[in-house]
Amino acid sequence: MRIIKTKDYEEMSLRAAEILAAQVVMKPDCVLGLATGSSPVGLYQRLIGWHEEGVLDFGRVTTVNLDEYRGLAPEHPQSYRYFMNSNLFDHINIDKKRTFVPDGIASDPAAACASYDRKIKDLGGQDIQLLGLGQNGHIGFNEPADSFPVGTHVVSLTESTIEANKRFFASREEVPKEAITMGIANILEARKIVLIANGKEKALAVAEAFFGPVTPKVPASILQLHPDVVVICDQEALSLVPGEGESV
Ligand code: F6R
Repeated sequence: MRIIKTKDYEEMSLRAAEILAAQVVMKPDCVLGLATGSSPVGLYQRLIGWHEEGVLDFGRVTTVNLDEYRGLAPEHPQSYRYFMNSNLFDHINIDKKRTFVPDGIASDPAAACASYDRKIKDLGGQDIQLLGLGQNGHIGFNEPADSFPVGTHVVSLTESTIEANKRFFASREEVPKEAITMGIANILEARKIVLIANGKEKALAVAEAFFGPVTPKVPASILQLHPDVVVICDQEALSLVPGEGESV
C-alpha cells in the first residue's frame, strides 16, 4: 500500500485523476470502478477538463459504480445514477450504455445483486477501482460489521452514515435507510485500487483503516491485504498519523 499526502483537496483530486487518466490512456477499453460522494467531485472535474482539451478519450471505457440508494429512481437528484450523469458522464464522450450503477428500484433486490455480480465478472473485473472512505471506515456501503460481506448485497445504512449523508438531502428523514452495494470481494478483485480521503472528519477512519488491525469493524482495513492500493489523503485526513505519508 502506498500512501500519498497532499496539501489539500485540489491536489488530492489532481493526483487521483492523473492515475485514472493514465489507466484510460494505457488501456482505452478499460473498466473503471467509480464512486460518488463529495470526495471524487474534484477528480471528475479534472477528467472532464482533460476530455474537453482533447487529451482524454472515454469512447471505449466501461464503468461500474460501487453503490446506489435503495428506493431512489435514476431520475432522483440524490440517486447515485443522477450524480454520475451530472458530475461526469454527461460531460465526456462515454457511451452511457456502458456505464453501470446498481438498480436501486429493482423489485427483486436479490436478483439485482446477483446480476450486478455477474455483470462485473462478465466485464472481466475492474482495471482500477476508485474509493472514498466513510467516517466509520466504510467502503462502498460496506458498513462496520462482524464479518466482511462478499458480493453485491442490500445493506441497512448505519446511523453514522445517515448522519454524514444528510447534507445532500432536504432533511435527515429523506435519507434512504438502505443501499445496494458491491461487496468487499467485488472491490478487492479490482486489479488496482485508489482511495481518496480529505478533511479532518476522515482522520480517525484513515488512522484506523491503514494503521490499525485488519477487521470488519473497519471495512477499509481489508485494503491492507490488496497488492496494489494507492491511498491519497490531504494532510487533514492524515493528521492522526504523524510522520506518515509522502509529501508532494
Ligand atoms: C460512494 C461510496 C461511499 C463514499 C463515502 C465517502 O459511492 O461508496 O463509500 O465514498 O461515504 O463519502 P464522501 O466522499 O461524501 O465523504
